[in-house]
Amino acid sequence: MEKNPWRDQFPQLTGKDDAFLDSAASSLKPLSVIAAVDHYYHDLSVNIHRGMYASSYEATRLYEEARAKVAAFIHAEEEEIVFLRGATAALNLVASSYGAAMLGPGDEIVVSELEHHSSFLPWQAVAAKTGARLVFVPLDPDYRITVENVRKVITTKTKVVALTYVSNVMGYVTPMRDVIALAHAVGAVVVADAAQAVQHLPIDVKSLDVDFLAFSGHKMLGPTGIGVLYGKAALLAAMEPVEFGGEMIDEVNKDRSSWKDAPFKFEAGTMPIASAIGLGAAVDLLDSIGLSAIEDHVVRIRRYAYTQLKKVEGIVIYNPTADTGVIAFNIEGVHPHDAATFFAEQHVSLRAGHHCAQLLIKALGIEACLRASFYLYNTYADCDRLVAVAKEAVRFFKGVGF
Ligand SMILES: Cc1ncc(COP(=O)(O)O)c(C=O)c1O
Repeated sequence: MEKNPWRDQFPQLTGKDDAFLDSAASSLKPLSVIAAVDHYYHDLSVNIHRGMYASSYEATRLYEEARAKVAAFIHAEEEEIVFLRGATAALNLVASSYGAAMLGPGDEIVVSELEHHSSFLPWQAVAAKTGARLVFVPLDPDYRITVENVRKVITTKTKVVALTYVSNVMGYVTPMRDVIALAHAVGAVVVADAAQAVQHLPIDVKSLDVDFLAFSGHKMLGPTGIGVLYGKAALLAAMEPVEFGGEMIDEVNKDRSSWKDAPFKFEAGTMPIASAIGLGAAVDLLDSIGLSAIEDHVVRIRRYAYTQLKKVEGIVIYNPTADTGVIAFNIEGVHPHDAATFFAEQHVSLRAGHHCAQLLIKALGIEACLRASFYLYNTYADCDRLVAVAKEAVRFFKGVGF
């Protein structure tokens, strides 16, 4: 079996032969990201954009350099990159600022049952406030979003299309380019939840012509506490901030105040400086390895694991045709939390539950499921262990009578 060329860069894996198969929840962090965060705390550790001394200038430079790296990574302009706490904060900002201002009774927001709660709940809340209506794209028999089905629900009433780019449970890639064309034909904006996309697919926001795109640093080798909202410059310029405080103002008066231009008007208060700098280092690493090399690897090992796992009697797999590195499955008759505990005891880290996608779990007609997710540091040995422990689990739970 081939040696994984990237695994050594992840200290969490050093000296362990545990199979970490939960990267869709959060990826492991490479040495270069840890070093960038450490450099900030060790050598700088000061605030940005305000200190008139060398360490503050340097911290500001690194923070803004991280913004430039993220912008280049998705082919955006720097002023179109808003740093926020994560994809959740980014999606909430679009809904509560753009959505609340633009939507009213009679308007429609297109969503799907594949959405992560972070991509669905902000729109549910805005619909309740504004009188706009949520419209669901019917999923196909594999529970995918298809262009044909999106076409069925987009009408002249559609003002927002808020869809996941890659499903966190099924690993399906939404045909986003075609969805965007359909939405734009009726003057609607598209909000793409790219929390599971940016770490797998090259994204060019300009050529895609997407209006808003949200993602989190911690799923793409970066630190926690930092995420990104990309918005087209004209849309961000027209949006009001939803958080107010230090550093986002132009001028404050007793009667009314004014804000800086985007992205700064959306970055109120002290930002997660170290995390942003760490995200810049994560982008460097993804760029130097190349997303296509990463995705070739992920798809290859996912296929290998899937091919073995589907042969195990008693295992039911919900996404045989996944496009990227996720297997959603259950052991027949066994609660996934019990199963995940069994896997954990055998040093296989999986996720169990509804994966913040209860609408999908309900559509699948189950209570919950297990999810194995793969990333660049996973190996064929991890897959073999997953399959071996799955076989043991089936035997064990049969023994205790299910
Ligand atoms: C598809 C999708 N959207 C949004 C999120 C929310 O990301 P965060 O919790 O980092 O804000 C996640 C996280 O699991 C996700 O998988």
